[in-house]
Amino acid sequence: MDELRGRFHFQPEKNWMNDPNGPVVLGENLHMFYQYNPQGAVWGNMTWGHAVLKDLTHWKRLPCALHPDMPYDKDGVFSGCCVVKDGLPHILYTGVQPEVQCLAIGDAKAQNFVKYEGNPIIVREEGEELNGFRDPFAWQEDGMTYIAVGSGEKGKRGFALIYRSQDLKRWERVGELCSKDDPEEDMWECPNFLRFEDGTATLLVSLMKAQGVYAMDGVYENHVLRAGTMRPFDLGNSYYAPNTVVMPDGRIVNFGWMRETVEGREAAGWQGMLTLPREIVKHGDGTVGARPVREMAYLRGERLCARKDFTLRSGENALKGVHSRHCELLIEFEAGSQGELMLELCKSPKGEEKAIVGYDGVSDSLYVDAGRCGGASGRVGGYVQGQGMTTLRVFLDGSALEIFVNDRETLTTRVYPARPDSDGMRLYAQGGVRVSRLQVFEMKSAYEEEEA
Ligand code: FRU
Repeated sequence: MDELRGRFHFQPEKNWMNDPNGPVVLGENLHMFYQYNPQGAVWGNMTWGHAVLKDLTHWKRLPCALHPDMPYDKDGVFSGCCVVKDGLPHILYTGVQPEVQCLAIGDAKAQNFVKYEGNPIIVREEGEELNGFRDPFAWQEDGMTYIAVGSGEKGKRGFALIYRSQDLKRWERVGELCSKDDPEEDMWECPNFLRFEDGTATLLVSLMKAQGVYAMDGVYENHVLRAGTMRPFDLGNSYYAPNTVVMPDGRIVNFGWMRETVEGREAAGWQGMLTLPREIVKHGDGTVGARPVREMAYLRGERLCARKDFTLRSGENALKGVHSRHCELLIEFEAGSQGELMLELCKSPKGEEKAIVGYDGVSDSLYVDAGRCGGASGRVGGYVQGQGMTTLRVFLDGSALEIFVNDRETLTTRVYPARPDSDGMRLYAQGGVRVSRLQVFEMKSAYEEEEA
């Protein structure tokens, strides 16, 4: 058993995965597809892997849905989305090379997909120099399907183009959803367009050089998003190319690709996993953030620790005797303007190996340092909106580490402890921190069948 694999995070049985693709609700289940290499643990042979997620908690792996087997997609079945039309799942994806948009239609159970004979359905306009033309993301508007396609002008700007269609076969170009000058980047990958009931909207894009997801919040009118500056949408280094689905109850649920943060991981025979399903939350103050979907509580197993109302001091360990590599920690605390909360995970008995999570009340920032736990060296993190009382939900699952702060900020990263006894924890403070609630739960498996 590979201890770095996830127990409640999705990943294929073996080999490479990257972006989540086409999450869609069909009948009882959420179908999830993903960029997959059936032939190895490195990027290549891009195929659509397939799985279903039941009740937003339980995964079942299915045979691959789309293979790179046509002239227009032989160099890769790249990322895209899935729309239900007339009860049937319609996948819109990018075929390579050159990048063109294609359609594949599935049966009512999403078991077999047939590529449309009229493919490709959208090609670049003649003479237009686009750097990248991929990753369609769909939404419904005025009784039509709209898609945003990621693109850019190298060294100049990134933008998302909009197209629309009635029948998903014939498409009309509408214009540019949004554009930003950016000499550093070549294009926007994987646009995700999130619309809220109050008329506001957020566009998420993935930036290759910055290796992260950025958000632009604004107002959407006449097919244009007027947005302010870009902000990082996650504080860590392992959240990229997310995809989003609107659930029947209206919740907007987002999944990201948790990429490896160190080189050489292909030796394990697998690379990449999915984040937990995250509900996108629009807060009263206008900020857009994320929290784990409430269903995550169903995966809680044995409670390993439960304490209330105490003051944490330096030299203490409020998690003495608690051991787990697959758990959720819930910490509600008040750091004040002087205090610092320190959490160590994956800790070997003498502390040679450990991942450090710190919340610094002086600067209101959260960080993780996984350098002593096989991860990328140095701190990742950043500013979080201080609120007095802070709630951290920390999910550790093998090598996956996801932290949610106040249902708003997220920090996604990876840890690679090498020692089998690195399962200890330590929680202490510098400067005195009030803790109102501390709970740790062992987490159950999210797979219908246990991993071997
Ligand atoms: C993002 C991305 C997409 C592309 C896919 C190919 O990680 O580069 O832009 O469609 O991966 O695997």
